[in-house]
Amino acid sequence: MLLTVSKRLEFSASRRLFVQDWTKSENLIAFGPETEACHGSGRNYVAYFVFTGPVDSATGMLINISEIKERAGKIVRERFDHRFLNEDNSSFRDLPPTADNIARQLYLDVAPLFSDAKAKLCACHLTESPERSATYYSNGASEASHWFEFSAARRTMSPHLTAEENARLFGSTTSTHGHNYRARLTFRAEGLNGKNPLVRYDAINTCVRALHDELDHRYLNQEVAGLTNRPVTTESLAKYICEHADAGAALHRVRLHERDDFFADAWSDKTVFLGLRMSFNAAHRLHAATLSDSENANLYGKCNNLRGHGHRYLTETTLGGEYDSRSGTLYDFIALKKAIEESLRPWQDRHLDFETDDFQDVPSTGENIVRALWPKLDNRLNQQLVRLRLWETANNRFTLRRT
Ligand code: NI
Repeated sequence: MLLTVSKRLEFSASRRLFVQDWTKSENLIAFGPETEACHGSGRNYVAYFVFTGPVDSATGMLINISEIKERAGKIVRERFDHRFLNEDNSSFRDLPPTADNIARQLYLDVAPLFSDAKAKLCACHLTESPERSATYYSNGASEASHWFEFSAARRTMSPHLTAEENARLFGSTTSTHGHNYRARLTFRAEGLNGKNPLVRYDAINTCVRALHDELDHRYLNQEVAGLTNRPVTTESLAKYICEHADAGAALHRVRLHERDDFFADAWSDKTVFLGLRMSFNAAHRLHAATLSDSENANLYGKCNNLRGHGHRYLTETTLGGEYDSRSGTLYDFIALKKAIEESLRPWQDRHLDFETDDFQDVPSTGENIVRALWPKLDNRLNQQLVRLRLWETANNRFTLRRT
């Protein structure tokens, strides 16, 4: 099992996507019309610093998140926030400040600051707009993600099942209904290639426009030629987009959100995943029994408040397993929802330390909450859980993965 802890930090900056020794048309092909903004254009960026390492059994923490905020926050404030990146940050004197390059630079700037810690920075993720994000990993791999939206009608059903089987599996969703879909295409490369973006603007723009035109404002079961003989489920649609996205770069995976809280992932290696988010409200206090009061106050800060505090926790359960091409499903959605509800119910509106069995001997840190929740879910989900995420707040995320 692999545990990661992620801290979210915001900054705003301007940037120009432009390479001096390229022609105008080479810049346009690589970066699109934004390249002509000769004084730069701007973004409100969100950076996520992802750490991995062992959890300290006394404190229940992999890393003290306030330490990430302090050390990474200083880099972000001094080198990125409210800067014109091309001129104020020497790292972008020769490299265009694309999302891919900014994510990489944040990693390179912040990783050495934790050389004294047991926890290691394993990735930096950067969101620059609802349509564009990038991730840089400690092994040198880079990912560029491009989002697009479409609205469409469908009946959730498979042409390979009988009417009775469709009714049993899909219930009321076999009636014609609609969604506003959000799809994410993620491209991956083992290293960034100098000044070139991981995916060129002209390639991604053509790719996304073709998919959008094919799917937007259609009745998917009947009006999309490639879907008429396929199951129309979220899993099947994600697979369809993965098979048909052509941007001249290595597509690694597609995520399709049918709603904010429900998605399917289809990877180019044919694996399929299904994810569902659900929240619960609870009170807690961070306090380690083995430490003195002043050590607790120093370690946990405001989270050590004697009278407690609380959160609306958000969980995200992701399942893997065998995709059934006859029904177009990975797992029964109703059963998935029920398993998560049952797992979270004992914690709903409780004080985690006083009123549950799970935090009698360990502090109720995010690390310990995901570790306690994992077996509750996995045992109800046929051991198909592959990833479990917990947001304590939007800023602090804890993720446990099956390795
Ligand atoms: Ni808390």
